[in-house]
Amino acid sequence: MSAFFRTSRLVRPATLSARAHATQHIRRTLATAAEKPFFSDEPEGPTVSTAIPGPEGKKAIAQLDKVFDTRSLNLLARYPDSVGNYIRDPDGNTFLDVYAQIASIPVGYNNPALAEAARSPEMVTALINRPALGNFPSDDWASILETGILTVAPKGLNQVFTAMAGSDANETAYKAAFMWKRRQERGGPDVDFTNEETTSVMNNQSPGAPQLSILSFKKAFHGRLFGSLSTTRSKPIHKLDIPAFNWPQASFPALKYPLEEHAEENAKEEARCLEETERLIKEWPQPPAAVVVEPIQSEGGDNHASPAFFRGLRELTKKHNILFIVDEVQTGVGATGKFWAHEHWDLPSPPDMVTFSKKAQTAGYYYGNPELRPNKPYRQFNTWMGDPARAILFRAIIKEIERLDLVNHTAQVGDYLYAGLERLAGQYPDQIQNLRGKGQGTFIAFDSPQRDAFLKNAKSYGVNIGGSGETAVRLRPMLIFQQHHADILLDVVEKLIKS
Ligand SMILES: Cc1ncc(COP(=O)(O)O)c(C=O)c1O
Repeated sequence: MSAFFRTSRLVRPATLSARAHATQHIRRTLATAAEKPFFSDEPEGPTVSTAIPGPEGKKAIAQLDKVFDTRSLNLLARYPDSVGNYIRDPDGNTFLDVYAQIASIPVGYNNPALAEAARSPEMVTALINRPALGNFPSDDWASILETGILTVAPKGLNQVFTAMAGSDANETAYKAAFMWKRRQERGGPDVDFTNEETTSVMNNQSPGAPQLSILSFKKAFHGRLFGSLSTTRSKPIHKLDIPAFNWPQASFPALKYPLEEHAEENAKEEARCLEETERLIKEWPQPPAAVVVEPIQSEGGDNHASPAFFRGLRELTKKHNILFIVDEVQTGVGATGKFWAHEHWDLPSPPDMVTFSKKAQTAGYYYGNPELRPNKPYRQFNTWMGDPARAILFRAIIKEIERLDLVNHTAQVGDYLYAGLERLAGQYPDQIQNLRGKGQGTFIAFDSPQRDAFLKNAKSYGVNIGGSGETAVRLRPMLIFQQHHADILLDVVEKLIKS
C-alpha cells in the first residue's frame, strides 16, 4: 500500500443480507474488468454490512446532534478510511461515491499527491500564517497564482479575484459588474463620485446605491449570500424569510428528451427564452448590469441548454452593453469532459467573468477586461480574499488532472456511462426518464418517478448518489471515476429499478 492509502479492511458479516450478496456480485463483475485502476488500493467494490447508519454511526450522530444541527445529514463518514472513489462510514460500510461532497471532490479521497502538497513547507507556511491578501500578500502569491489557478484560466481571461466559496465568488463578480456599469455611466475611472452619491449611499438609496440588477434564470442556483441568493431561484426553502433584491428572472429552456426527436420544439423553446431575456434586459425597472447563467443548471434539476442558446446570451449581453457571467462553480474543473463547461459552446468572445469553486477547492472569478478592476482600492475587498493554502491545493489538483489526463478520461468514461444508462432507459423507460448529459462527461442525470426512495435505497446497495431539483438523480462522480466504477453503478441502478 502507498503511504496514504490503507488496504481495505472490509467487514465480512457471517450472514449476508440479500443486499450484501448483491455487493458481492458487484465485486465479481469488477474482477472481470481489465481496466487498471488509478489507485491500486481502492476497494474492489462497495460493501454494506449494517443498516445505514449502523450502530457506530447512530452513536456518533447522537453525539454530534447535541452540538450541531444534524437534520441535513446524509451520511456520517470516516475520512481517514475513505479511498479514491470510495467513502466509508464508522461501521465499515464502503460506498462508491458518485455525489462526491456535492460535486466538490476532484481526484479522490486521500489522494497521495494532494497529501504530499498538504505536507509541503509551502503549505504549512500558508496555513499557519494566513494573510489578509489585499493588504499583505506573500512575495510568492503571484507565483502561486501563475503556476496554479491561472494555468487553467478560461481562454481570453488572464486575471483572477480569489474568494472563499461559490456564493462569495458570484457575489463579488456581481459587485465588479455593478462598479463597471456605474463607472461607464459616470464617464470613466477618473470621474469622482458626487456628493449626492456619497451621501445617498449611506442611506442605501440611489444614486449611490444604484437601481441596477443582475438577471438570472428560473431554477438557477448561484449561492446563498444576499446578492447571490437574490439570483438563486431553485427552491423556496433556499430563500424563505430572507430579504431579496427585486431582480429579473428569465425562463431557462425546458428541453424535451431525447434531444434528437425534439430538435424543432427545443429550438423554439430556446428562442422564446432568449426573447424573454432580451425583453427583461430592456424593460426591467432596475436595468441589469450582467446576466449570470450556469452552463448546466445543477441544483435546480440538471437542466441543459444548447450551445446556440448560450451563444445567443453572449450576443444579447454584447448588444445591450452588459456583462456575461458564467457560473462554473459546479460545472468547472473537468466534470463535463472539458476543463470549463463553456468550452462546449464555441463562443465568439469569452465570457466577461467565469466564477469557480467546488472541485477547485478554492474559489473566485476569472476576468480579462482591466476595467473590471474597480477604479479605487478597497472597493472589492475583505480580510482574507481567498486563501493561499487552498490555492496551493488547487495547483496540486491541476497537476494531478494533467498527470492522469483526467479531463479527456472523464469525457470517455462519461460516454461509456451514458451509453450504459441509455441502454437501461431503453429497457426501463418509466424508471429512467429524460436522460441528459450526452457528450458532457460524467455530468449526467435522469428523472426517476420515486427519486427520493431511489437515492435512499442506493445506499443499501453501496452507492452514494445525490439528487437535484424535484425529480432528478444527478451523477457527479469524481474525475478518477473509471469504467469499472461505471459498471458497478449501472449494475446498482438496474437492481434498484428491479427492486
Ligand atoms: C452553480 C453554483 N453556484 C454557486 C454555488 C454556491 O456555492 P457555495 O455553496 O460554495 O457557496 C453552488 C453550490 O452548489 C452552485 O452549484
